[in-house]
Amino acid sequence: MSRILRYHSTGRPADVLTLETESAPDPAVGEVRLTVLAAPVNPADINQIEGKYGKQPSLPATPGAEGVARVESAGPGVSTLSPGDLVLLPPGAGSWRESLTTAAQDLVRIPADLDILQAAMLRVNPPTALLMLTQYTDLNAGDWVLQNAANSGVGRCVIQIAKARGLHSLCVVRRPELIPELEALGADAVILDRREDMASIRERTGGAKVRLALNAVGGDSATGLAAALAPGGTLVTYGAMSKQALKVPNGFLIFKDLRVRGFWLTRWFENATVEERGPVFDELIALASAGRLTVPVENTWPLGEFAAAVDQAQREARSGKILFRMSA
Ligand SMILES: NC(=O)c1ccc[n+]([C@@H]2O[C@H](COP(=O)([O-])OP(=O)(O)OC[C@H]3O[C@@H](n4cnc5c(N)ncnc54)[C@H](OP(=O)(O)O)[C@@H]3O)[C@@H](O)[C@H]2O)c1
Repeated sequence: MSRILRYHSTGRPADVLTLETESAPDPAVGEVRLTVLAAPVNPADINQIEGKYGKQPSLPATPGAEGVARVESAGPGVSTLSPGDLVLLPPGAGSWRESLTTAAQDLVRIPADLDILQAAMLRVNPPTALLMLTQYTDLNAGDWVLQNAANSGVGRCVIQIAKARGLHSLCVVRRPELIPELEALGADAVILDRREDMASIRERTGGAKVRLALNAVGGDSATGLAAALAPGGTLVTYGAMSKQALKVPNGFLIFKDLRVRGFWLTRWFENATVEERGPVFDELIALASAGRLTVPVENTWPLGEFAAAVDQAQREARSGKILFRMSA
């Protein structure tokens, strides 16, 4: 028997989650049986448990959009994976559990020496950062990208991937103590999310024609990014941490012809072919293996401490991500 978290109704995560047991079935043709090692608590997991996400599972459901696991046994016809291999779970697998039997073809094999906690966070935030940097504008080395919520998991991936690709990043945060930390990570300029700093973006980017801004906050923060974009530039919204609506002045559309777009990784996974997914994860795994794609971890919790884990994950001003650590 293995342990698994479920929710039977939506609501406050610490209240509606329950720890249950189940027996994972033996793998059928094309399947493998996995021991889940670690899985993060992401904002989207919390939103889904609360019933406030763009796509809701049928209930009861197991949360956890990503995680890392070890192959325990392979069913007939599986030639790509062997017991002992480490893999990334498929999107939306329900990773807050100890054991899972699933199709081998949906798994991404990763190098055995990759840090387990970093690997557990590779399937959601890093591709979000990479795809937003590549799908909306054709950026060249030396170009700038603007972003808010820059110390988030996605934000830190944007900084590191931008640096690896020779791009410059201007990063907006709301806590001054993060400025030296993000500069050390590779951000070219870090400013605070307040009117006077936002007004200095053109100066901080040396008057460059900035064509891409990434928004995970909304409200005035997004307006400040949009104001600094060059004519024809693109504002991509992928999160709404402040829960404030976007405010795009009419003049930004009329006089600057700004593009206002939205990114959702779920949509990309639904549409991307195997050939399109491959290079994305190859680039991310190579960066992670080289230690050039890391996100700090504030704490890990066993599954049984789920209430403390989800409460801590919802706190502001964390020093890093919160993960479940199921097994050594
Ligand atoms: N669209 C997609 O496909 C997609 C994919 C991945 C992630 N996301 C979204 O991206 C966002 C970041 O996710 P993550 O996992 O990277 O987050 P995370 O690591 O958990 O960090 C959360 C971030 O949000 C900031 N924040 C929290 N409340 C805020 C507020 N009221 N105003 C401004 N900033 C606030 C935090 O700043 P402090 O440290 O100062 O508290 C921190 O930078 C979330 O909205 C998530 O849902 C979207």
